[in-house]
Amino acid sequence: MVNIGPNGRKKRPGAVVLFRSILFLFLLLSSSAILYGTAVNTRAVRDLAETSMESTALALSTSAESALRSGGNRAEGEVRNILSDRVVAYAMVARKDGTIVLHTNPSMVGGNIREAGLGEWLRTGKTFGRRIMLGTGLPAYEFNYLLHRPGGDPEILRLVLHTTRADRILSDARRMWWIVGGVLVLLWAVGIALDRVFARHLRLQAQVERRERLALIGQMTATLSHEIRNALGSIKGYAQWVDERVETADPKKKGLAAVLQGTMRIESLVNDLLLFSREETYSVQPVDVGVLVHESMAGEASGWKGEVELDPGEGTVVSADPEKLRRVLANGIRNAIQSMGDRGHLRISARPDDRRVEIRIEDSGPGIPESEIPRLFTPFHTTKADGTGLGLAYSKKTVEGMNGEIDLANRQETAGAVLTILLPNAR
Ligand SMILES: Nc1ncnc2c1ncn2[C@@H]1O[C@H](COP(=O)(O)OP(=O)(O)OP(=O)(O)O)[C@@H](O)[C@H]1O
Ligand SMILES: [Mg+2]
Repeated sequence: MVNIGPNGRKKRPGAVVLFRSILFLFLLLSSSAILYGTAVNTRAVRDLAETSMESTALALSTSAESALRSGGNRAEGEVRNILSDRVVAYAMVARKDGTIVLHTNPSMVGGNIREAGLGEWLRTGKTFGRRIMLGTGLPAYEFNYLLHRPGGDPEILRLVLHTTRADRILSDARRMWWIVGGVLVLLWAVGIALDRVFARHLRLQAQVERRERLALIGQMTATLSHEIRNALGSIKGYAQWVDERVETADPKKKGLAAVLQGTMRIESLVNDLLLFSREETYSVQPVDVGVLVHESMAGEASGWKGEVELDPGEGTVVSADPEKLRRVLANGIRNAIQSMGDRGHLRISARPDDRRVEIRIEDSGPGIPESEIPRLFTPFHTTKADGTGLGLAYSKKTVEGMNGEIDLANRQETAGAVLTILLPNAR
């Protein structure tokens, strides 16, 4: 959908909204998929790491049990051999009463595991494993297994395994989250950049189309105005010729004056039109704002009775075409005075920053009604009986042609309007 804005600028909200929605949906779906996939993987890795510890412990326990079941003199040595695996931190066999009968650290044999809940566990006899912390501060996995030796009471086989390998897998899985986080940030950054590029592309395209349309309208208007001006020249010349030959008392004199006044009005309108529609060439150079403001004031406000305050700053210089900027200032001053009538307060100021200079023409008139604001810069929009409504349209065209910006708004603190012109700072 293509809408034409109040300033003749094309808007494509439909395309932008559609692109944004699709992009946002894509980003949301892909982010959710990545997050879900990573969460599932992490859980699977964690389960796998725990299961692998449990399986190792179970395998070692059953091997130790079958070695003990086989009995004989070499049984204990064989069990020690099995339990000397690198993953085993320590292992022990204890009687029901907790007396240690076998330990990977021989000095512990004869000691006792005094532990609450041991009797309860022996009654249920269920194998179980849990994570513990060793006295050295290292994490470990404790596995309790009920041993059945032929002809004897059940005994406790406790295996404590190092968890280094499983923990490494888990920390790798945790690191995955950082990588996924980085990928997501990158994905969203690319998405946002794409959105900006697309919006910019649409804006530039709209500008190009608008310029082309305006150029076509300009050509047509220029041709038409030219023809009208030529024809008008003959009418005016003939009316003046007749007027000079008619006596003052002649009643025809009144009619001739009306014809002459009408032709002059059409002439000024056609001149404005020609000025607005012609293809501009800019002779940009450093222009002293103070000098131009004083000249424009002398031309537009010399007989005005209101208060004037000029504050263009010391040596404020802009990059502009002096003739075009003079016309823009003149129209701004004329508009301000026309809005105030005979009396009021007119303030013209200029403030430079590093890049640009802001010129403000402020008046104490009635300001602009809300409904007028969108149409201010539209060609031929005027609220004046004798206005052509081309002043601001021409100003916008030329200020933008000089790489500047222009805006007309109501003043914030007091009544009245302010015309703001931003132009490149020449300093
Ligand atoms: N300072 C202001 N205060 C209030 N309204 C303003 C002011 N400046 C402009 N306007 C409004 O904006 C309209 C358009 O201004 P613009 O300069 O384009 O045309 P114009 O002054 O009506 O005619 P032209 O400049 O062609 O003689 C004006 O008719 C007026 O309604
Ligand atoms: Mg005007």
